[in-house]
Amino acid sequence: MSYSKRILVTGGAGFIGSHVVRLLVNSYPDYLIFNIDKLTYAGNLENIRDLESAPNYRFERIDILDADAVAQLMHQMDFNAVVHLAAESHVDRSIQDPLAFVHTNVLGTINLLNAARGAWAGQFENRLFYHISTDEVYGSLGDTGFFTETTAYDPRSPYSSSKAASDHFVRAWHHTYGLPVVISNCSNNYGPNQFPEKLIPLFIHNIRHRKPLPVYGDGKYTRDWLYVVDHARAIDTVLHRGKLGETYNIGGFNEWKNIDLIQLMCRLMDQKLGRPEGDSASLITYVTDRPGHDRRYAIDASKIQRDLGWEPSVTFEQGLSLTLDWYLNNQDWLDSVTSGAYQQYYDKQYKNRF
Ligand code: NAD
Ligand code: TYD
Repeated sequence: MSYSKRILVTGGAGFIGSHVVRLLVNSYPDYLIFNIDKLTYAGNLENIRDLESAPNYRFERIDILDADAVAQLMHQMDFNAVVHLAAESHVDRSIQDPLAFVHTNVLGTINLLNAARGAWAGQFENRLFYHISTDEVYGSLGDTGFFTETTAYDPRSPYSSSKAASDHFVRAWHHTYGLPVVISNCSNNYGPNQFPEKLIPLFIHNIRHRKPLPVYGDGKYTRDWLYVVDHARAIDTVLHRGKLGETYNIGGFNEWKNIDLIQLMCRLMDQKLGRPEGDSASLITYVTDRPGHDRRYAIDASKIQRDLGWEPSVTFEQGLSLTLDWYLNNQDWLDSVTSGAYQQYYDKQYKNRF
């Protein structure tokens, strides 16, 4: 079959990537969606098992650090677009092992940029390199204000520094070589299939097993939460309608102090598990803070809303309830990803914090 577009998605076995791949495969039967992923601890083919037999979907296990493999695939497949999500994505791991973030997030992105430039050989009509980034590149806010697309970069963790560097390289390939690029920077995502190292799935897992809930510092750090399917919808929107060379901030218009969010999750989990009110909240334990912990992130998403007509489709109450239900109905998934190496990570990260 000949496809109207061939799209390469990197990191499509991870949390956000799996939702992006699903949306694209199901919405565009006339596109070929080609997913490459190294399948690190965070990549899981179970996340996209439902797509395996889709005729317009292909998967190959490729490390984006493997420049030859990436270049060969890009030449062979003549992709119209690259949607680049593959990354090391967890701040706490970046504090434990910063170099892994430099390798994948910086060098891996440069490999992809080189491969796109080589394969497209100056023929940039109907081509796009779409880089998925984070609001963390902008640093940390005080009690007021929002990150806009023109906020100066001020990354403060090894993770956000590596993502900021990758954003800079993507822009450099645009300005220097004319590569057609677009970048979006999104706030914190939540939803099904998120690896339980991040706040929401970690706390669901711990509540279920009646383990302590480790709240970093005073718990008053603030994040802007967006349901992952709405991020995938925004990525679809930017992929099709984003203007070349532009940046789009994506957010949920939905700020929560960690402790308020945790209290809400505890109440909802008590209801869903039939536990007495206050049961889960009794697990809340304040622990040693994350070093360099960014105080507040908040996105001004008015540009994508105004220029491209995107806005979130679910409220936070709906999204959180769907998310808790998904984890409670997919306990096998949670059990399988928390066996083995997870325990070593957990012990290293939390042992000396309590
Ligand atoms: P994730 O950690 O769940 O998934 C990352 C995926 O990339 C995994 O499938 C992993 O196997 C793959 N990968 C890692 N290294 C690779 C390599 N060298 N080669 C090929 N594949 C590799 O991450 P996520 O939360 O889904 O984030 C996806 C992207 O979105 C990242 O670029 C991240 O910076 C960005 N982002 C995430 C959030 C969030 O809240 N999670 C918010 C904004 C932006
Ligand atoms: P996280 O999900 O790691 O996302 P990010 O650091 O990229 O925003 O953390 C969200 C917030 O929750 C952040 O302020 C750190 C805090 N947090 C805890 O208090 N305890 C935990 O065990 C974790 C993982 C996070």
